[in-house]
Amino acid sequence: RKRLTITKLAEMKKQGQPISVLTAYDYPSAKLSEEAGVDVILVGDSLGNVVLGYDTTIPVTVEDIIYHTRAVARGAQNTFIVADMPFMSYGASRKKTLQNAAKIMQLGLAQAVKLEGGETIAKDVKALVDAGIPVMGHIGLTPQAVHQIGGYKVQGKDDADIKRLVKDAVALEKAGAFSIVIELVTEKAVNEMKKKITIPIIGIGAGRNCDGQVLVYHDVLQYSSPYFAKKFVKTYANLANDIKEAIGQYVMDVKERVFPAEEHTFEPIPTVAPPKQQ
Ligand code: KIV
Ligand code: NA
Repeated sequence: RKRLTITKLAEMKKQGQPISVLTAYDYPSAKLSEEAGVDVILVGDSLGNVVLGYDTTIPVTVEDIIYHTRAVARGAQNTFIVADMPFMSYGASRKKTLQNAAKIMQLGLAQAVKLEGGETIAKDVKALVDAGIPVMGHIGLTPQAVHQIGGYKVQGKDDADIKRLVKDAVALEKAGAFSIVIELVTEKAVNEMKKKITIPIIGIGAGRNCDGQVLVYHDVLQYSSPYFAKKFVKTYANLANDIKEAIGQYVMDVKERVFPAEEHTFEPIPTVAPPKQQ
């Protein structure tokens, strides 16, 4: 199959075809996602949480994103790859914003970048787009601002907040963003945004009316320990259980000398007896 383009994504929205987005962070997660038919892979800075074990996405660096995106790019050569710009790698200085995005594209081999924020970063979005870098926006709950927001709270609960979200979405579209991720917002807020913008809205915890959905790989597969259930996530496997069981079995087999068996052995001596246990 061919790698999607931002033009094709716009077309999919126009034709009412839902867009499936999933995060990936390395070669196997990218390759499996591509083989399973994911439309867009996001190398999210959620890798800080689910791969690197941080409490928030704030410690993630441009170098972390590049390292993981490069592995994803090798695994998913026919899938559109968006990479997150991490905390404070954009917005403070226009020049740094452009340099960091360029590094992510050139060294990470992503096709687009994503950054968090609405009206306040619209000028940076425009500068990136003017430089030829496709930008995905991200509004609603923006995890890089978790300490500012005061927790992982649902956004767009009252009319004033919905108005703010709609303004942010409009500003991003005007600045040239090709799509917007909307995280943890009410369905009402999404409906109001849809009246005002035409670019595809990719939701996470944003209800049923978005043009596409995005989830975190480790959430979909329950690939973490402990696994925290989230209301907006649907899980399709329980890898943590499977992995723990499998590893436990391996450890037991080694301890009980069940593994390696004759079939795993080169030129085995058939009569060798296991050493006596004390
Ligand atoms: O980092 C991430 O995985 C994201 C998605 C949750 C949208 O930004
Ligand atoms: Na992110």
